[in-house]
Amino acid sequence: MGAIAAASCENPGGAGQRLRAPVAPEPESEESAMKIFYAAASPFVRKCLVAAHELGLRDRIVLETAAAHPVNRDMVVVAHNPLGKIPTLITDDGAVLYDSRVICEYLNAQGDGRLIPREGAARWSALVDQSLADGIMDAAVLARYETVARPEALRWNDWTTGQLQKVASGLDALDARAAGFGGRVDIGTIAFGCALGYLDFRFASMAWRDKRRNVAAWYEGFAARESMVATRPPAA
Ligand code: BEZ
Repeated sequence: MGAIAAASCENPGGAGQRLRAPVAPEPESEESAMKIFYAAASPFVRKCLVAAHELGLRDRIVLETAAAHPVNRDMVVVAHNPLGKIPTLITDDGAVLYDSRVICEYLNAQGDGRLIPREGAARWSALVDQSLADGIMDAAVLARYETVARPEALRWNDWTTGQLQKVASGLDALDARAAGFGGRVDIGTIAFGCALGYLDFRFASMAWRDKRRNVAAWYEGFAARESMVATRPPAA
């Protein structure tokens, strides 16, 4: 990933937004809770929260709204994570974890481990699917910054086009895999669900379903899961 891309990835889009997840059961005791720095629009944050829901851990996590922007850093987050990126998780032991992959590994270990198969082909499928989905999210978020964060005079259309081409070829590869997903619920399918949800949220005009019937059919069922419904990005 080049210098511009490396500067952003799992981060920002709307400076200083104060968004809340539609459904956010609060922990019984904040003292024993984990805390996640979050923005409701971030697909990487959503991946962690969906994983937490699926593992039955969501009610142990307190949401701490963070200002997400590639340039204007949230110094509260920086105090914990020098990269100033979300998601950042503070465990109930006070350990600070980032990025979303590490957070999901941690949550999986706190739960029953069902989201990341321990060995064999299922493990590598889940992990490489997560990488493909994260790459789609990265490219989509970077394309989004180009229009909402970069001053108009500095925008470079070819660069945005390049990011959206990554999204498109990533979706094509996903279409070839999705027919074989069945009822799989693991870190790979969760990440795909969050990537597709982000495209619906920020890039609806892309109409990604038109040429990817397998993905569209699979996503219709997956998006109806309680974990996905509870973490849907706000219509703001
Ligand atoms: C967005 O508003 O699109 C966004 C917010 C936070 C992280 C990534 C994207």
